Amino acid sequence: MPVSAGSVPQDAGGDSTAGPVRGLGPKAASTRSGRRTITVGIVGATGYAGGELVRLLLHHPNVRLAGLYGRNRDKEPIAASHPNLGATGLVIDRAIPEADAIFTALPYGAAAEMAGEIVARGSALLDVGPDFRLHDPADYPRWYKFDHPAPELLAQAVYGLPELHREEIREAADRPTTIIGLPGCYSTATILTLAPLARAGLIADLAVDAKSGVSGAGREPKPDLLFSEVNESVRAYGMFGHRHTAEMEQELGEQGERGAMGSRDANPGVATVDFLPHLIPMTRGILTSCHVRTTRPVTQAELDTLYGEAYRDEPFVQIVADAPATKHVFGSNLCRIWVRVDPRSGKVLALGVIDNLVKGAAGQAVQALNVLFGLPEAAGLEQYPIAP
Ligand SMILES: NC(=O)c1ccc[n+]([C@@H]2O[C@H](COP(=O)([O-])OP(=O)(O)OC[C@H]3O[C@@H](n4cnc5c(N)ncnc54)[C@H](OP(=O)(O)O)[C@@H]3O)[C@@H](O)[C@H]2O)c1
Repeated sequence: MPVSAGSVPQDAGGDSTAGPVRGLGPKAASTRSGRRTITVGIVGATGYAGGELVRLLLHHPNVRLAGLYGRNRDKEPIAASHPNLGATGLVIDRAIPEADAIFTALPYGAAAEMAGEIVARGSALLDVGPDFRLHDPADYPRWYKFDHPAPELLAQAVYGLPELHREEIREAADRPTTIIGLPGCYSTATILTLAPLARAGLIADLAVDAKSGVSGAGREPKPDLLFSEVNESVRAYGMFGHRHTAEMEQELGEQGERGAMGSRDANPGVATVDFLPHLIPMTRGILTSCHVRTTRPVTQAELDTLYGEAYRDEPFVQIVADAPATKHVFGSNLCRIWVRVDPRSGKVLALGVIDNLVKGAAGQAVQALNVLFGLPEAAGLEQYPIAP
């Protein structure tokens, strides 16, 4: 059904859990038809992650899209950038919308420049890019080659991986400034795949070999992403310094600090992660293969318990008995993990798969929004994977 620009009829159906929304003042507590409704804006709506956010939020029972921002756009029909969403009648404008929450899905450095303006209006900021992921401002010139323009805001940001930081995300809702730095796609897959081992202080040495579909690089045209370059070819890139390595070291290192042995030394293998990504001729999906030499011998039964307990109550993480493939999660917010002790070497092999644009980007962003606003965590994210 075509709808008017910027107004999406999301009141029909769904749950009716009325009640106070955590934090963020009266705007966020607005209700329509007795249901909580959060107003949301998307900055960078013309990109892959921005378009995927629109697609997911159109079916979110508690969200109303307040506006879509694209640079140099003025009432441009969304079909110009996302033909799949043309029937929504939505338009993309040049003004950042007023909303309870603003998602930014921009190249690195751009969201940090806008963040002050967004949070000054009282909106919660959820950045899909990397500008609020790393705790230490000195990591930005090191990994991203820019000086962070707003270190005072960075200091208030929460790393938005709900499986590891659910309580901190909830608490961020009650702060005057709410900023969620959403994880990268490789980082999401790899951190989830390794967190139970890190928590138990089991990572003595680590090599991560990962593969991504081409949409992970965004839609900005680049010669090495042409069909003729990528098709029927596989190549490694980002040798010895892919930026997502920084997040893996930060987050897995923190797991160790809270882990059984009480310090980062518990996991010497996460201090300098050997991470090698590869580009694969497919559109979506990430497979991360994590090779771990453990700090002590482990049994399969111990691994089964560790992973089972870590993710038993998680709506989007599934521990599976057969090695997972990217097709098993395509289009969904799921992360599937398989973990085994190699009986020959005694090492652990842990494999994880996600859809980079859903659990690796827009889906995770919606999941964090749900946690932040006290909504059901799976709201808007209940799609099964698409197959074949
Ligand atoms: N793709 C993924 O799988 C994925 C996963 C996790 C995180 N991310 C992160 O999410 C962010 C967006 O990624 P993407 O894949 O959606 O990229 P994309 O497809 O290239 O889209 C980038 C968006 O940013 C806009 N933009 C570019 N430069 C800008 C500037 N200087 N000021 C304002 N807007 C600007 C673009 O607008 P125009 O249309 O005007 O160019 C477009 O809307 C990146 O930081 C990326 O690292 C991506």
